[in-house]
Amino acid sequence: MRSEYSGDGLSESDLASTPLAQVRRWVEDAQARQAERGDVAEPTALAVATVDADGRPNVRTVLMRFLDERGPGFVTDLGSTKSREIGATGGLAAALTWPAMFRAVRFRGRAVAVGREEITAYFVARPWGSRISAWASDQSEPVADRAALVAGFMRYAALYPDTGSPDDVPVPDAWGGWRIECDEVELWAGRRNRLHDRLVFTRVGDGGLDTADAWTVSRRQP
Ligand SMILES: Cc1cc2nc3c(=O)[nH]c(=O)nc-3n(C[C@H](O)[C@H](O)[C@H](O)COP(=O)(O)O)c2cc1C
Repeated sequence: MRSEYSGDGLSESDLASTPLAQVRRWVEDAQARQAERGDVAEPTALAVATVDADGRPNVRTVLMRFLDERGPGFVTDLGSTKSREIGATGGLAAALTWPAMFRAVRFRGRAVAVGREEITAYFVARPWGSRISAWASDQSEPVADRAALVAGFMRYAALYPDTGSPDDVPVPDAWGGWRIECDEVELWAGRRNRLHDRLVFTRVGDGGLDTADAWTVSRRQP
């Protein structure tokens, strides 16, 4: 089955002056569309690609929990496969994709660890059960069966009972996050006859995603 991509497209004149403003605009559009029409589930779902020490690529989906001038970021287990692969190469790429809107964003760059303060602020805002799971799960490691996982959850639930206070569960040392310090941000907009728009911000100087002078814009063939 083939479907025609009849999106709005993206022209140079419509492009925001910085990658941050443009990505924020599209994320907000996706969130608004999900609220109105419900066809953009998890608008901040971010496919994160890594490469291991042997050069084998890997990919998984996380939720984009941070987006500011320092780059998009997510929270995860610092001992997980993805974190080990990030440690091996330092490189990171990620994509937001909104098929219902014929839009996608690609980020490429270097990984930077999210600071402890930011991580703690985010952790305490999570529901109690999610915070307990962060203790119970050694992400990416094998586990014998589901019962073993649930037993771990119950053990930590007894250790750190739900008191309704944000600090009833300590932040696990292994819980952290990564940000992509971008050198490239590509906006893809699907159009009729597969003649899509691809506008790319490429880093040409120092500065964040909100520094217009740090970026140049070019167009790629679809
Ligand atoms: C919609 C969605 C959201 C997810 N969000 C996260 C997340 O924010 N952080 C995370 O570590 N894993 C998240 N996961 C699980 C990851 O896809 C993955 O299974 C996990 O991080 C382990 O990956 P790894 O073994 O490559 O490190 C999410 C999965 C889905 C489908």
